[in-house]
Amino acid sequence: MKLLVTAGPTREYLDPVRFLSNRSSGKMGFAVAQAAAERGHAVTLVAGPVALPTPGHVSRVDVVSALDMLAAVRRLLADQDALVMCAAVADWRPKTQSVVKLKKAEMPPAIGLEPNPDILKTVYPLKEGRLFVGFAAETGDPLAEAQRKLTGKGLDLIVANDVTRPGAGFEVDTNLVTFLTAAEPPRTLPLQSKLDVGRAIVAWLEQRVSGL
Ligand code: PMT
Repeated sequence: MKLLVTAGPTREYLDPVRFLSNRSSGKMGFAVAQAAAERGHAVTLVAGPVALPTPGHVSRVDVVSALDMLAAVRRLLADQDALVMCAAVADWRPKTQSVVKLKKAEMPPAIGLEPNPDILKTVYPLKEGRLFVGFAAETGDPLAEAQRKLTGKGLDLIVANDVTRPGAGFEVDTNLVTFLTAAEPPRTLPLQSKLDVGRAIVAWLEQRVSGL
């Protein structure tokens, strides 16, 4: 398979030194990319700003903002069999970006924001026969919200993680996830390394492609 994987946060700059972002380290997305490469798939990894080495045999494209990530996904998707959107894309960006550092006295007391496009929804018209996998980062019961995202974003699989659970979600090396699809009952995997979660996602994709 040819797989496009996104990972990490995006940064939405207010000026050259200040930005809005989130806690994503990129570990989960990099683990999916590594797991897919281990199985011999051709992997392109679109990475937000993270401090991780590129897994072996993975082609990496670095991006900064949500708009950069959207442009990269749009450009690269045509050549892929599947898209795994693990990135924690910032939903909002500052309405204005200063090219020079804002002086403290010039800083607005409130920052005006505008919405970023939803990458999955934007590229949905290009989906055709490709498999689309999303993640749902939730606090509390992740399943109801993940179900809504599965349908609303036109996904084949959504991987839900409750990011408040110990050993799950942002920054840690393990994750506790539930797979949701339209056809099968939810499947919760045991707490395991992000690499093993990545391997389970790749196994799901391989099964779907081989029609098992
Ligand atoms: O990077 P780590 O530190 O290892 O942490 C892993 C993780 C918690 C970031 C990862 O497991 C995870 O949950 N990633 C998805 C985070 C997220 O943005 O979830 P969401 O529920 O806000 O978005 C749902 C889906 O829509 C995701 O597939 C997301 O990539 C996608 N999305 C979101 C916003 C947007 N503007 N465009 C999108 O395509």
